[in-house]
Amino acid sequence: MASTSPRSVLLLVLAVTVAVSHAQLQLSETFYDATCPQAASIVQQKVNAFVDADRGLAAALMRLHFHDCFVRGCDGSVLLNSTDTMLTEKEALLNKGSLRGFEQIDEIKMELECACPGVVSCADILALVARDATAKVGGTSWPVFLGRIDGGASFADEVNSSLPERTDNFTQLVARFARVGLDARDMVILSGNLTSAKLSLV
Ligand SMILES: *[C@@H]1O[C@H](CO)[C@@H](O)[C@H](O)[C@H]1NC(C)=O
Ligand SMILES: *[C@@H]1O[C@H](CO)[C@@H](O)[C@H](O)[C@H]1NC(C)=O
Ligand SMILES: *[C@@H]1O[C@H](CO)[C@@H](O)[C@H](O)[C@H]1NC(C)=O
Ligand SMILES: *[C@@H]1O[C@H](CO)[C@@H](O)[C@H](O)[C@H]1NC(C)=O
Repeated sequence: MASTSPRSVLLLVLAVTVAVSHAQLQLSETFYDATCPQAASIVQQKVNAFVDADRGLAAALMRLHFHDCFVRGCDGSVLLNSTDTMLTEKEALLNKGSLRGFEQIDEIKMELECACPGVVSCADILALVARDATAKVGGTSWPVFLGRIDGGASFADEVNSSLPERTDNFTQLVARFARVGLDARDMVILSGNLTSAKLSLV
């Protein structure tokens, strides 16, 4: 995804976010109001600065959220580094060398840790960042429901079996979208958007 129509990718992430928030009914826009009221403004200010310096980063940050959400849900698992016993999503063919924005997410996380230690999840940061990056390059904004819990597991092998691939046929695509709570109609609309924006899903 070298150049991107933010509106088209916005729809994808929006749909994924909606699907995930149905599964976790406790998510709310006001989740950090008492514990870290400045969280959203810290994220937005950092994202604006990052995208001002590198406009192409907006699409990359959106893609990071998409690749996180399609594998194990929106749980930040895409951020985890490999260990001696765990080869993580970062190492998968569809991610390695093509996902970027990790340093920027780290920097935002560090700033949030200074402001409110141990409060804001990385999964929520990815969701807020995707929204703010989209808005920053002229896309529509949307409400982000917060309160995701970070996952501790991440497996490279699950990326292949979760993310849509270029070679998937219709049946396979429907099955992949169904796993994240999106039906065939959602998929067709999103794919139409992606096709018209000359984008690839991966
Ligand atoms: C992953 O490793 C990089 C490089 O060592 C580090 O900067 C980053 O903070 C690590 N990320 C996580 C989630 O541990
Ligand atoms: C994913 O699929 C590709 C192509 O089918 C394959 O080469 C690769 O080994 C698979 N696994 C990972 C972790 O990328
Ligand atoms: C889609 O691909 C799967 C796996 O290769 C195959 O089993 C299935 O028959 C294909 N379906 C269609 C409609 O081509
Ligand atoms: C994506 O689809 C929506 C709904 O059909 C439509 O309003 C929008 O214009 C489409 N965007 C692109 C880039 O095709």
